[in-house]
Amino acid sequence: MLARGSGPEQRTRLAVQWRQISWIACWIALCAVEALPACPFSCKCDSRSLEVDCSGLGLTMVPPDLPAATRTLLLLNNKLSALPSWAFANLSSLQRLDLSNNFLDQLPRSIFGDLTNLTELQLRNNSIRTLDRDLLQHSPLLRHLDLSINGLAQLPPGLFDGLPALRSLSLRSNRLQNLDRLTFEPLASLQLLQVGDNPWECDCNLRDFKHWMEWFSYRGGRLDQLACTLPKELRGKDMRVVPMEMFNYCSQLEDENSSAGLDIPGPPCTKASPEPAKPKPGAEPEPEPSTACPQKQRYRPVSVRRAIGTVIIAGVVCGIVCIMMVVAAAYGCIYASLMAKYHRELKKRQPLMGDPEGEHEDQKQISSVA
Ligand SMILES: *[C@@H]1O[C@H](CO)[C@@H](O)[C@H](O)[C@H]1NC(C)=O
Ligand SMILES: *[C@@H]1O[C@H](CO)[C@@H](O)[C@H](O)[C@H]1NC(C)=O
Ligand SMILES: *[C@@H]1O[C@H](CO)[C@@H](O)[C@H](O)[C@H]1NC(C)=O
Ligand SMILES: *[C@@H]1O[C@H](CO)[C@@H](O)[C@H](O)[C@H]1NC(C)=O
Repeated sequence: MLARGSGPEQRTRLAVQWRQISWIACWIALCAVEALPACPFSCKCDSRSLEVDCSGLGLTMVPPDLPAATRTLLLLNNKLSALPSWAFANLSSLQRLDLSNNFLDQLPRSIFGDLTNLTELQLRNNSIRTLDRDLLQHSPLLRHLDLSINGLAQLPPGLFDGLPALRSLSLRSNRLQNLDRLTFEPLASLQLLQVGDNPWECDCNLRDFKHWMEWFSYRGGRLDQLACTLPKELRGKDMRVVPMEMFNYCSQLEDENSSAGLDIPGPPCTKASPEPAKPKPGAEPEPEPSTACPQKQRYRPVSVRRAIGTVIIAGVVCGIVCIMMVVAAAYGCIYASLMAKYHRELKKRQPLMGDPEGEHEDQKQISSVA
């Protein structure tokens, strides 16, 4: 009876154990499947933090088999130069992407197009010279963007239009000479801006950005030093302490520009100037064409027009006066010669018959007296 009774008990125990084992095995298998989506060759993958670390491997291309669930992708210290536009396709869970210390020079406009959850993008120490306006338009959650140590000479207007959440932005050590205020206005959450170590030209082109910087500081934003490189008088000075009065001349320039802008003959001047210079290189080496052109453009609207008007009016008046003088002179001459002739004829007649009128009058006078 014991044997009979212990039989089913053992069986149920075994069944329970079997079920537990199979459940654990299944769980392990599931975990393996979850973690397995292939860690790219020689990268380190952390299945808990969903971090893929492929840094310092001398990679020249982004591994193609990145797990779609990757949250952090580290590709710093590699040899990436040109990336295809699909390098980060489908990585919509990616939050942190580090591409620092590579040789990237250009980024396809849609390379970050799928990274809708991206919050941090590191592009420090590459060779990026230009950025596409639409490069960051699909990552509205971006909070940190590092573009320092690159070759950027200018930022396309609208580059930051889709980044209302950006908190920190670094543009240190580039080749920027000026910045456009409108590019920075969409950055409503910006708290830290680094712009140091650029060849800033503190002239009229930077004036509006100075206004923006003042507003940014007033709002509580932190900004590092923007030291002028040009003009000479301001070299080494921080743009923020240069008084606004230094830029009063800009509005005068703008006025001149706008009045010159009404006159269209700008382009023909620049187009025409090389043409006459080429046909007569040996004949007359006149240093006119290129240098005289912009001056003409600038003074044409006011003084030259006025001068031409004055010349025309003066010419017309002079002409009329001259004609009148000639007419008067001719009339005078003719009158004088006629009178002279008449007098001569009179004198010729006088000795023969005397003055007939005078005689008559004398006679009349005599008769009246008589
Ligand atoms: C991205 O996902 C789509 C569909 O999910 C797939 O057809 C495509 O091949 C994937 N692209 C890459 C580069 O993995
Ligand atoms: C993006 O992030 C949010 C919050 O972290 C998350 O709920 C969402 O699933 C993520 N989207 C993708 C495609 O992973
Ligand atoms: C920039 O990257 C190069 C290699 O990519 C490295 O040799 C250099 O030290 C880096 N410079 C800085 C300032 O990080
Ligand atoms: C005036 O116009 C010239 C060219 O048309 C331009 O280079 C310059 O920046 C303008 N100056 C101002 C103050 O707008």
